[in-house]
Amino acid sequence: MKKLLSVMLVLTMVLAIVGCAKEEGPETTTDQGAKEIVIGANIYNFGDNFMNGVVSPALKEYADAAGVKINIVDSENQQNKLNDQVDIFIGQGVDILAINLVDPASASTIIQKAKDANIPLILFNKEATEEGAMAMYDKVWYVGTASADAGIIQGDMMVNDWKANANWDKNGDGKVQYVLLKGEPGHPDAEARTEYSVKAFDAAGIPVEELAMQPDPNWSTDGGNDKMATWLASFGDSIELVICNNDGMAFGAINAMKEQGVSIPVYGVDALEQALNHIADGEMNGTVLNDGKNQAKAVIDLSVNVANGKDPIEGTSWSLDEVKAVRVPYVAVTPKNYADFK
Ligand code: BGC
Ligand code: CA
Repeated sequence: MKKLLSVMLVLTMVLAIVGCAKEEGPETTTDQGAKEIVIGANIYNFGDNFMNGVVSPALKEYADAAGVKINIVDSENQQNKLNDQVDIFIGQGVDILAINLVDPASASTIIQKAKDANIPLILFNKEATEEGAMAMYDKVWYVGTASADAGIIQGDMMVNDWKANANWDKNGDGKVQYVLLKGEPGHPDAEARTEYSVKAFDAAGIPVEELAMQPDPNWSTDGGNDKMATWLASFGDSIELVICNNDGMAFGAINAMKEQGVSIPVYGVDALEQALNHIADGEMNGTVLNDGKNQAKAVIDLSVNVANGKDPIEGTSWSLDEVKAVRVPYVAVTPKNYADFK
C-alpha cells in the first residue's frame, strides 16, 4: 500500500512538473501547429486595487480571447525586481514585453533591455518620465491615459458640486479648505491629477486652502485610512473637501470618517465597483472612470499586431499620438450616472 502510494506520489509530481513546464515554457504551439504568441508581463504591485482588481484580470481575459499566452508577475513595488523579471522573460524568449513600470523615471533601463534583445515592448499605466526615453527604440509604445484629464474632470465635478451646495463652505469664508491624498510621488497620474483638480477651482474663481497633502507610493486604502484619521484629529471640522487621486485611498478616507461619525465630501478616480457602491450609498460624491479594461484591451491588441509583424494599431480603433501612446479617455462618474458603470 505504502509503495503504491509513493509511486502515485511520484507520478503526480512528474505530471505536475510536465504540466508546469508546459505552462511556463514560452515556445508552445497551438493545435494548428502555429507558434503561440507569448507575452511577458508584470504588474508593479499586486497590492494595488486598480492594477490587480481591474487591469490584471482584463489582460488575462483579452489574451485568452485573442488566443495568446500571457505570464503576469508581481514586481512588489521594486524596480530592481522588475529589472530581473525582464531579464528572465528575455531569457525565456518571450515574443512581447508588456511592462507596468515601478519607477517611471527608470523606463530607459527597461527600454534598453528590450532593444538589446530586439523584443517589442508595450509600457502601460505608468508613463515614462525620462525625456527622450520613448525615442530610444522604434519598437516601444505606451498604453495609458492623458493623465491631466482625470484631474480636469474631477475638478469640474467638485466645482459644480461646491457651487450647488452653499453649506459645504462650513466656516463661510468663501474658500475651500481641502486635504488631498496624492498617491505615488513622481507618477505622472498622481502629479497631474493633483495639479489639475485644484486648478479647476482657480479657473472658476473659487479660492482654495490646502490644509494637508500626503503622498503614498502604494496608493493604498490603509494609507488613506491612517492619513485621514490623523487629519480628522488635527483639523477636525475645518476640512471641507477630501480630494483623492484614486478610489483606493478614498475608501480609506471614508472608513476613517465613518469611524469618527463624520461625513465630508470626497472624490476619487478609477470608478472601482466599491466606489460605485459608495456613491449609491451617498458616502462618496464622485469618481472618474479610469478605463482599465480598455487599457488592457489596447495592450493585447497592440501586442498581437506587433507579434504578427503588423502595424501596432492596424485593424483596431486605437490611435497613437506623437509620443507613440494610446490614451484611453476618462469619464466623469457622478451620483446621476454611476449606475451606467455597474
Ligand atoms: C490609478 C491608481 C493606481 C495607479 C498605479 C493609476 O492610474 O488611478 O489607482 O494605483 O495607476 O500605477
Ligand atoms: Ca471654507
